[in-house]
Amino acid sequence: MSEKIAKLEINGEKYEFPVIEGTENEIAIDIKNLRGSTNGVITIDPGYKNTGSCESAITFLDGEKGILRYRGYAIEDLAEKADFLEVAYLLIFGELPTSKQLAKFHKDIKAQSIVDDDIKKIIDAFPKTAHPMGVLASLTSALTAFNPSSVNVDSEEEMYNAIVKILGKFPVLVAWAMRKKQGLPLDYGNSSLGYVENILQMMFKKPHEEYKLNPIVVNALDKLLILHADHEQNCSTSTVRMVGSSHAGLFASLAAGISALWGPLHGGANQAVLEMLEGIREDGGDTKKYMAKAKDKSDSFRLMGFGHRVYKNFDPRATIIKKAADEVLADLGVEDPILDIAKGLEKEALEDSYFVDRKLYPNVDFYSGIIYRGMGIPTEMFTVMFALGRLPGWIAQWREMRLRKEPIGRPRQVYIGENHREFSKISDR
Ligand code: CMC
Repeated sequence: MSEKIAKLEINGEKYEFPVIEGTENEIAIDIKNLRGSTNGVITIDPGYKNTGSCESAITFLDGEKGILRYRGYAIEDLAEKADFLEVAYLLIFGELPTSKQLAKFHKDIKAQSIVDDDIKKIIDAFPKTAHPMGVLASLTSALTAFNPSSVNVDSEEEMYNAIVKILGKFPVLVAWAMRKKQGLPLDYGNSSLGYVENILQMMFKKPHEEYKLNPIVVNALDKLLILHADHEQNCSTSTVRMVGSSHAGLFASLAAGISALWGPLHGGANQAVLEMLEGIREDGGDTKKYMAKAKDKSDSFRLMGFGHRVYKNFDPRATIIKKAADEVLADLGVEDPILDIAKGLEKEALEDSYFVDRKLYPNVDFYSGIIYRGMGIPTEMFTVMFALGRLPGWIAQWREMRLRKEPIGRPRQVYIGENHREFSKISDR
């Protein structure tokens, strides 16, 4: 079989580069030697729309066909048949766990779920107005101080211990970030519960009453976490890999990923969706006015929860979560004017040529915020919930990057500033 090559001509000079093919027939031009062989030529691709940063065996997605698979398993199957911890194991270690492996994984995570009590002092130092994403990023960084030993990535045991540690402690930090805001005492929940059940208990248990778990809510949260668990080389995941590529530790890399996720064009979109819907309601509920604003190029307003960098036909996660949203809202008997506005916008956008032509469809975050609101999770916590779901993906990507011994991430640039100029003393300027 002949090897595929890409040919490039620059100023009359011809160069050839190997073409590599992934297991799903994705084709990439391998330009590792471009700069060296061309005497300094680089490529430029702001936003990396055409640039593969790595080879990865974790998640496959086809944005045109609306396919998302973790380690080869369809997201639809995983959301229907697996639970979040099973999916976390699959993403991180590459195979679905046996029941024995899963039980051990859960037991090890529970054993590591206590955080140093001094973390409470750090939480106390934050004002109640602090955004919980900022609190979560800081607390995740702070864990580094309380767990100083850096991971020897060549030791499977050390790697495993670091992984169960963060999977144990992270939900505690998430729950505490919320409880601090609400003035509730910090609580560890009940470790005899399932992983997701205990997250709900840690978040919602009031000190003076029993917390009753609702299986429909548990199921919806489980699904939401699974759907968010990985999404290949998005902004926050690339950040985790990039920071980790300097051999910064796992927790430090994750803290950076949390900050990247915070932005409204990424994980912050779920909060932005609800804020947008609330804004529309306060402004009289005129969805047509906001549709017009979204289409007006002189207006910076965008319909939050619509469009996706890679899904250009539909977001398969949105299809699954829309169903779960209907179930939860019906079960909880939620009647909310915000929902009517959401449904109105969805209908209008799906029929509008501006959105249809640009292939802008509701993404997972259009619906996730609506479910979280129905569950009683405050709007500012939505992105924190996304981070909770994304944790296994970040860990899996960090682990893969370190095991593959990837080089430090260090992009190039095309300099467009001043050429050399003479320095002038301050008195002469
Ligand atoms: N409302 C109105 N117009 C939009 C929107 C929107 N939400 N999204 C894209 N467009 C327009 C954009 O103005 C551009 O129009 P034109 O071709 O006339 O200049 C065209 O569609 C393509 O937009 P783009 O910004 O080049 O697309 P992108 O792939 O770079 O951006 C996106 C993807 C997700 C940043 C963008 O669609 C967006 O800002 N959406 C709203 C924020 C959002 O919901 N983000 C959550 C993404 S899902 C969570 C995750 O996985 O992180």
